[in-house]
Amino acid sequence: MAQYPVTLDVPPEVASFFDPQTNTVSHVVMDPTSHACAVIDPVMDIDYAAGRISYDHADEIIAYIRKFKLQLEWLIETHVHADHLSAAPYIQSELGGKIGIGDQITVVQETFGKVFNEGTAFQRDGSQFDRLFKDGDTYEVGEMTAFAMHTPGHTPACMVHVFGDAAFVGDTLFMPDAGSARADFPGGDAGQLYDSIQKVLALPDKMRLFMCHDYGPGGRDIMWETTVAEEKAENIHVGQGKTREEFIKFRQARDALLDMPKLILPSLQVNMRAGEVPKTDDGKPMLKVPINAI
Ligand SMILES: [Fe+2]
Repeated sequence: MAQYPVTLDVPPEVASFFDPQTNTVSHVVMDPTSHACAVIDPVMDIDYAAGRISYDHADEIIAYIRKFKLQLEWLIETHVHADHLSAAPYIQSELGGKIGIGDQITVVQETFGKVFNEGTAFQRDGSQFDRLFKDGDTYEVGEMTAFAMHTPGHTPACMVHVFGDAAFVGDTLFMPDAGSARADFPGGDAGQLYDSIQKVLALPDKMRLFMCHDYGPGGRDIMWETTVAEEKAENIHVGQGKTREEFIKFRQARDALLDMPKLILPSLQVNMRAGEVPKTDDGKPMLKVPINAI
């Protein structure tokens, strides 16, 4: 395992944007000593029944960045999401910045390239992205150094990104009363997810953790911020030292009962292309519905 350059003495400001259609939380992370920022997991809106995409959620983020005169340096995808479409290319076209994801995206592209019967025009080398992160890789946002931790289990390419005392956990952990993400997508693995969660819980107790999703269990208000200490003490799936065996048994039993996310088919086709909608040979944006394939 890589040695991670953890430093709690950089406290970036974080602005979060909740998307009620997909229960996704996107974040703007700001370097405290410059105007540089990064955007984590931005959402593109889709009316799937009508095949119509729009950008209200992304426009909110763009307006925020412009209002505070921030310089967007990075657009980070914690993984290839299966429940919403990425707005990274749209925001990039408005504000610049580089789009990054874990280097295991190539595994995801290989798997779903087959599912969607993609031809050779669909590159499986991650080249649609500006940067492919390996475990422990660092990058700069203004004066702030961020690093990426490879956290597979939910998907092979999952990464947690850490900026000073703020970690963006993607779909490894949820809030303590919601537990953890599913591990039953192609390439997912409950045991790997447990190991990845342990990497996150090995960060300092005071590390702030920002979620990618919240569903307000039990009707509580939507929340997206907690700490390593709170997750260790209270997480209903992994807290209080639950064992790997207990977790795998529970996770597999639960995953067997879950329906596929409503937007999984459009999400995967778009997100494995870094947020670009696929096009027909004559350049028309078009999505596929493979039958009985996932
Ligand atoms: Fe996910």
